[in-house]
Amino acid sequence: MILVTGGAGFIGANFVLDWLADCDEPVINLDKLTYAGNLHNLASVEGVARHLFVQGDIGDRALVAGLLAKHRPRAVINFAAESHVDRSIHGPEDFIQTNVVGTFHFLEEIRAYWNAMEGMEKAEFRFLHVSTDEVYGSLGPHDDAFTETTAYAPNSPYSASKAASDHLVRAYHHTYGLPVLTTNCSNNYGPYQFPEKLIPLVMMNAVAGKPLPIYGDGLNVRDWLYVGDHCSAIRAVLSAGQAGEVYNIGGRNEKTNIDVVKTICTMLDALHPASPVTPHEKLITYVKDRAGHDRRYAIDARKIERELGWRPQETFETGIRKTVAWYLANPDWVANVATGEYRHWVEKQYGSQA
Ligand code: NAD
Ligand code: DAU
Repeated sequence: MILVTGGAGFIGANFVLDWLADCDEPVINLDKLTYAGNLHNLASVEGVARHLFVQGDIGDRALVAGLLAKHRPRAVINFAAESHVDRSIHGPEDFIQTNVVGTFHFLEEIRAYWNAMEGMEKAEFRFLHVSTDEVYGSLGPHDDAFTETTAYAPNSPYSASKAASDHLVRAYHHTYGLPVLTTNCSNNYGPYQFPEKLIPLVMMNAVAGKPLPIYGDGLNVRDWLYVGDHCSAIRAVLSAGQAGEVYNIGGRNEKTNIDVVKTICTMLDALHPASPVTPHEKLITYVKDRAGHDRRYAIDARKIERELGWRPQETFETGIRKTVAWYLANPDWVANVATGEYRHWVEKQYGSQA
């Protein structure tokens, strides 16, 4: 079996659902259920015996040691993290606690577990750490895309905390020989994304007739990848990646934020003409820029394509169409995540512009 952390969040839940649909191997899913963890994401596998959900913190060493001893996973995939840049700007502490301190405690327990293994079990064990392209910093308009050897230059408390966790993972391989794999992926979108992030926020506000907040001039560039393609890349790295190696994951879909938002508005004009305000573009509202806002991210994914034969299945056009359709088809999920905590966040981040 495998152990997945953060499997009630956006990418982790998509990974667990795809895994259970595609193979028979059981999954233990360890998630703290922070504001971003949502068991509704896993509703379709409720009662599935191959899925064991455990609420808990990756930094809880006794809990982690007990899970490892009891279930003896052959691999661990670490999605658990604080993940939202704007939240890290308002309050970095949770990011340091989970992404740095939590990852450290988790690695210590994984190391002890792996050290006690022998033979093939030890040789085949893998710890896969899921990271982000944001650790590489910000690109100018004509710079080459990030490769696995681009120097780290994180600019936000979030990306600095992820960079720290990547360095710890790297050090545990270099120093102790722990068989680690690290993936650095670009911006994901798709079903079950918490509506603090650009695409689900825009979907939710647009159908409610609320402003669509664009930071700064709207010309920051992100390199978008459909979440199912990120999950298939992680599976490819887990099964055939070389221990100690880093793999960048991306879909060559660079878009400005304003282009992304206008694309969603145009789709909604056709698919949801009953919204209170149409055309939906009328809702676009330029707001104060994010502090330290990275201008451009772009991933060079040639290594994973060449060495592991991975390719994304979705273009941005097909992926965003699926995503818009999913949010429209799942109003109950959207209503469920719009909790008190979510409303509190919107008030804090956007104030009277919300
Ligand atoms: P998310 O915020 O939607 O989910 C994070 C999950 O981790 C939640 O279920 C939360 O409850 C859980 N969690 C948080 N702290 C925990 C702790 N201490 N112990 C156990 N569980 C804890 O995040 P996401 O967007 O799904 O991102 C998952 C991972 O992928 C993160 O490591 C993130 O840095 C990375 N990543 C995200 C993107 C993206 O575009 N969203 C892109 C590249 C990499
Ligand atoms: O690049 C990978 C990263 O992508 C992940 O590591 C992070 O976990 C994930 O949150 C994401 O970070 P971003 O900051 O790029 O994503 P976000 O959806 O928050 O913002 C995308 C872009 O849209 C960014 O340039 C900021 C802008 N934005 C965002 C929000 C929430 C707006 O213009 N308005 C908004 O209201």
